[in-house]
Amino acid sequence: MDAPSDAFWMPFTPNRMFREAPRMLVRASGVHYESDDGRRILDGTAGLWCVNAGHAREEIRAAVSAQLAELDFAPTFNMGHPLAFELAEELTYHAPKGLSRVFFANSGSEAVDSALKIALAWHRLRGEPQRTLFVGRERAYHGVGFGGMAVGGIPKNREAWQDVLMPAAHMRSTHDLARNAFSRGQPKHGAELADDLEAVIAQHGAEKIAAVIVEPVSGSTGVLVPPVGYLERLRELCTRHGLLLVFDEVITGFGRTGAWYASGKLGVTPDMITLAKGITNGVIPMGAVLVRGDIHADFMAGPRADIDLFHGYTYSGHPVACAAALATLAIHAREDLPGRAARLSGHWEAAAHALRGLPGVVDIRNFGLISAIEFEADAKRAPTRAYDVFHACFERGLLARVTGNVLAFSPPLTIDPAQVDELFSILVSAIRATP
Ligand SMILES: Cc1ncc(COP(=O)(O)O)c(C=O)c1O
Repeated sequence: MDAPSDAFWMPFTPNRMFREAPRMLVRASGVHYESDDGRRILDGTAGLWCVNAGHAREEIRAAVSAQLAELDFAPTFNMGHPLAFELAEELTYHAPKGLSRVFFANSGSEAVDSALKIALAWHRLRGEPQRTLFVGRERAYHGVGFGGMAVGGIPKNREAWQDVLMPAAHMRSTHDLARNAFSRGQPKHGAELADDLEAVIAQHGAEKIAAVIVEPVSGSTGVLVPPVGYLERLRELCTRHGLLLVFDEVITGFGRTGAWYASGKLGVTPDMITLAKGITNGVIPMGAVLVRGDIHADFMAGPRADIDLFHGYTYSGHPVACAAALATLAIHAREDLPGRAARLSGHWEAAAHALRGLPGVVDIRNFGLISAIEFEADAKRAPTRAYDVFHACFERGLLARVTGNVLAFSPPLTIDPAQVDELFSILVSAIRATP
């Protein structure tokens, strides 16, 4: 194949290095991609945490093409089309109790920014306009919008823009190798880290804080599973101090943890949930915010002729994305993909932890159908060992996700046990081949 054009400025990529050894995907089906040199690549990452129902699902393709023929686009400002209402209803059906309203966006970043804007607008509406501070967490990823960047906690993602970010306080990350390395499922230690929120409250005053946003299980920063009791404590503090709690479920939404939502799996209900990625199985961009019914009701209390929220996107509730999402949700329900992930998670956990003892591996962690392998940090090495292993995996037919010193895995939920074994055996060989 011809060398890839220089015109495409690839996101989150060392562009020049990529072009020295391009990794190109040209086709996908089931749990496999095909590379441009005709190799089958096991999709260890569901694309980018998107393709939970597996690739090339006929039902989704059919729904999308039928929708294109029926109604290709319709605005949702002052107009409606049936699928957006149907999808909103369907999303809330599986959502934690009380989260009964849906605002549509087109990506995780937009969903996050929408949730933050809803939080600010709600406090203002209720006569507390001084509640403007957000609380995020170190190592958090909430996308790349200005709101998500501010609450996010990855230094490189903020560096170039730090002088203009809206104010946000950050709690410490729950990552604690000294106490929790090689935890299976939720780590035992670290519930007390939620008390960082108390420190923020003591410093700024609860009456200045709008909301706390966390990923219930984070992915992009190397898979951080919440310690036992941690989210419960955050919930308790938010309730006590009148702060909204937002769970960013952009990667955990729909089955990944073994339940429809991580909040259901973990038994903690936030006030808003952000979604994207798996909502359409990745085929069409879409994001959404699930909002507590009574928060929404406060916006409906003003004069009837007034717009209740001055926010929205041209493509909020795009009909083709709605068709893809409805077909995706139907597959999840019919094939019980959340249940399937739950049933497979024991095998997945055992297969991942069998890598303990391999050279340079300092941690293995897992939750639902997510796992991460962390390598010893080496500041002098660039790219990181994890990057070199990622490259070696690709050469051996496995797509991994690299982030810093960590490789993360989150395959389609349709993967079978033999394919799980294959995934980890390729990974073992890639680690052994990468000094
Ligand atoms: C938790 C979380 N929030 C937000 C985002 C941003 O989503 P998008 O890339 O669709 O804007 C991501 C993407 O990985 C994510 O993992």
